[in-house]
Amino acid sequence: MTQYRAIAAAPSCQHPRPAGDDLLLLSLFSSTLLSTNRLNKLLHLILSALVHPDTALFGRAMLFLYNQKTGVLQGMLGVTQAAAHGLRVVGSDQGSPLTGHWELDDAVMARQWQSDYCTAVRSMRIDLNDGCQIVAQTLKQRLVCHVEDTNCQHCMECGFVKRFGITSFAAAPLVSRNRTLGVVIVDTPGSDHVITDQGLSLLQLFASQAGMAIDNSLLYRNLEETHAELRESRQRLVHSAHLAAIGEMAASISHELKTPLITIGGFAARLARLQPQSVRQQQYLETIISETQRLERMLADILAYSRKPTICYNRCDLRMVLQECLDDYASTFEELGIELHAELPAGYWEVLGDAHQLKQVFINLLVNAQEAMRQGGRLMAILQEADKGGKSCARVSIEDTGGGIPEELLAKVFAPFFTTKHHGTGLGLPIVNRIVQNHGGVLCADNSQQGAVFTVLLPLADEYHEVTDRGM
Ligand SMILES: Nc1ncnc2c1ncn2[C@@H]1O[C@H](COP(=O)(O)OP(=O)(O)OP(=O)(O)O)[C@@H](O)[C@H]1O
Ligand SMILES: [Mg+2]
Repeated sequence: MTQYRAIAAAPSCQHPRPAGDDLLLLSLFSSTLLSTNRLNKLLHLILSALVHPDTALFGRAMLFLYNQKTGVLQGMLGVTQAAAHGLRVVGSDQGSPLTGHWELDDAVMARQWQSDYCTAVRSMRIDLNDGCQIVAQTLKQRLVCHVEDTNCQHCMECGFVKRFGITSFAAAPLVSRNRTLGVVIVDTPGSDHVITDQGLSLLQLFASQAGMAIDNSLLYRNLEETHAELRESRQRLVHSAHLAAIGEMAASISHELKTPLITIGGFAARLARLQPQSVRQQQYLETIISETQRLERMLADILAYSRKPTICYNRCDLRMVLQECLDDYASTFEELGIELHAELPAGYWEVLGDAHQLKQVFINLLVNAQEAMRQGGRLMAILQEADKGGKSCARVSIEDTGGGIPEELLAKVFAPFFTTKHHGTGLGLPIVNRIVQNHGGVLCADNSQQGAVFTVLLPLADEYHEVTDRGM
């Protein structure tokens, strides 16, 4: 029969230790908790203090932190008396015994972390819904529990009791600001060692202080992470401001270059039409014409990317937009030996947007896919309904069999001017991304088995949404 009890207040002591000693321990413990903000070090200090030979409280201690989402206690750290030897008192004043705090070197913490006991604890999980009822009760009642004899059917089923051959143990909840953070489980292996009432009282006091310190340290870590995120966003903002300035400059240069370029192309085309001309002259002219056309397209892309788009919000049928794009490219695909497989089921596919810009999205994706399949292949265009944050969306995926995008480049393909093509501008996908985002959608790039797959998620229009014009 399992014997355990919850201790609400300090009970009578079996082997009383002078009260002054306990006070000293408590004082050391609380100043130790105040000495560090690092969660990792804090956990090592807490457990080392509980099992250190000088405190003579327990033989082993393990700490579990509680995952609110899964309801599972995850083993974080385990320290035995032998591994706690490096714990030392620093900063104490001879004249004043209640000064100083415990300290641990990084090397000692590393040794504790790598010990077999700690490794075993870290691999341990206690499911509160389906695990040790005593631990579950400890957390529920928020009181220290003591199991004097685990030699019963119920306890022997518990993973950690079996794993560590525990014959008797105590568990103390780690609580702070009315939140359960975890549990500390202590035991003292060996038949002649018992957990005393005095040890339990100290455990309870230690645990309540440790809970608050762990909570503070978690908050501090959160604060640090948020601060780092803020710093990163500020850097990103500065970077975007630089990009915007470069964009503006690129736009004005592009604008200046566009007119003379059109003139050059136009005159070259006129010359090409004049007869007679040698084959060589014709070749030169064709090169001038094709190169000026390429530059014109590039300038148009730069202008499109740097210009603030004005989206005319109209209801447009995404299925129709996609079908038009596929029709436009059907003959090119056929010539290149690209087999087209389209799944565009009939249904309600209306989105609020600019049909012209949406066409630009799919054409860019189709051209990229086509450029990736120079030796032919298979292109799949699939339209499906999807859900994004509870909102009904249309998901369009364009998948090719062109070998895909190297994993290390996947994150870069939406960056302006990133291209792996000889004649590419690297603005196709950034333009697509911007248009999709301006339509409240999301664009994703990934690899399938044989090639790349681009997914566009666009919110479907509510059936009675008002039609408006809005500058973006
Ligand atoms: N379907 C695809 N398969 C493999 N790589 C792709 C695919 N689509 C895009 N990429 C990679 O992403 C890069 C950026 O594409 P993006 O469309 O932005 O520019 P681009 O095609 O190189 O030039 P352009 O400005 O003419 O579109 C490409 O150079 C290519 O490396
Ligand atoms: Mg492209």
